[in-house]
Amino acid sequence: MSQTTTMRLANRIQKVQPSLTLAIAAKAKQMKQQGIDLVSFSAGEPDFDTPEPIKQKAIESLKSGFTKYTPASGTPELKAAIAQKLAQENGLNYQPEQIIVSCGAKHSIYNVLQVLVNEGDEVIFGSPYWLSYPEMVTLAGGRSVVIETPLESGYKIKPEQLESAITPKTKLIILNSPSNPTGAVYNRDELKALAAIAVKKNVCVLSDEIYEKLIFDGADHVSIGALMPEMKDLAITVNGASKAYSMTGWRLGYAACPADIAKAVSSLQSHSTSNPTSFAQVGFLEAIQHGESAVQKMKAEFEKRRNLMVELFSQIKGVKYFKPAGAFYLFLDISEFKLTSVEFADKLLDEAKVALVPGIAFGDDHAVRLSFAASEKNIREGIRRIGEWLKSRA
Ligand SMILES: Cc1ncc(COP(=O)(O)O)c(C=O)c1O
Repeated sequence: MSQTTTMRLANRIQKVQPSLTLAIAAKAKQMKQQGIDLVSFSAGEPDFDTPEPIKQKAIESLKSGFTKYTPASGTPELKAAIAQKLAQENGLNYQPEQIIVSCGAKHSIYNVLQVLVNEGDEVIFGSPYWLSYPEMVTLAGGRSVVIETPLESGYKIKPEQLESAITPKTKLIILNSPSNPTGAVYNRDELKALAAIAVKKNVCVLSDEIYEKLIFDGADHVSIGALMPEMKDLAITVNGASKAYSMTGWRLGYAACPADIAKAVSSLQSHSTSNPTSFAQVGFLEAIQHGESAVQKMKAEFEKRRNLMVELFSQIKGVKYFKPAGAFYLFLDISEFKLTSVEFADKLLDEAKVALVPGIAFGDDHAVRLSFAASEKNIREGIRRIGEWLKSRA
């Protein structure tokens, strides 16, 4: 980059890290285009089509001319349906005006950070983390305070860790259950203990619940915002259409917030993106009101694949894994192999033609992430190749 090119970009964007995983993803794509028989475990989205009735509703609304601006924070019908869902399923009581619908949960989180974080404020989250959190914190002028949560602790933040990470500069805690990349799910007691600390220290909690509907073994999803009355003024609950209803490309998410935060997010959004796409919101409304049976089918399929992956890896020597309790990722510990996660992923791609995501992207260089948004056939073949490859290196 020439000096003039560097200098014309704003400081804030220069602080954002280029994606470490992009090179591997680009290489995998190129290999696929060359017709190489590649098994990919790198998908970050469900591999199902969006359920037909959801598509139909959006098509009908588009045809009927629902093609203009809506209120910037979302249609009143959609916001009312979200408020009802949060009350019935999550025990969270929000007024529709406390809900801001945005262009994906990613956008919702970005907005919340922009309206809460001042220069130098601290935002706490656990590592391994979803890769956009640190960059979004940086873009808001904040500082990420990362709590190490190793495999041995089930990839979960312990109450004492949280308490000692909080300083007078702490503005926000981000929790993500079920987690991308580990599949860890906090239970009610664990969340209660964390909520008690947030309340004691009077710190807001952004609860990223985008994988809410994908929890296995009959366990329940718990929203931290519903656990103590005092959390009502501290919790920001984020969710969306992408993962539950296989609607990643529709770009729909929401944040349910205390009134002052909702007002600020609404104002920010009205001066940046305005409303999420009008007819896409109609599809999301259908998903929330009538999408549950489709969700259950997809969840059952993910659970089957999770079980298969765990069974296959249990037969491979040297790898340690965490049995995911939710989401659709398996986080594989590769510390035995004395390679960085990028080296591991790069060599595996070159030599065994299997694509996965290096853990360093999520703050853990001793692991790799495999997505089970892949067919059973590919899961069997991909894990067979990984097993053979590891054996050949031993
Ligand atoms: C943990 C987590 N949060 C938020 C998102 C954002 O989802 P979307 O913007 O598609 O709603 C993702 C997507 O990968 C995610 O994994």
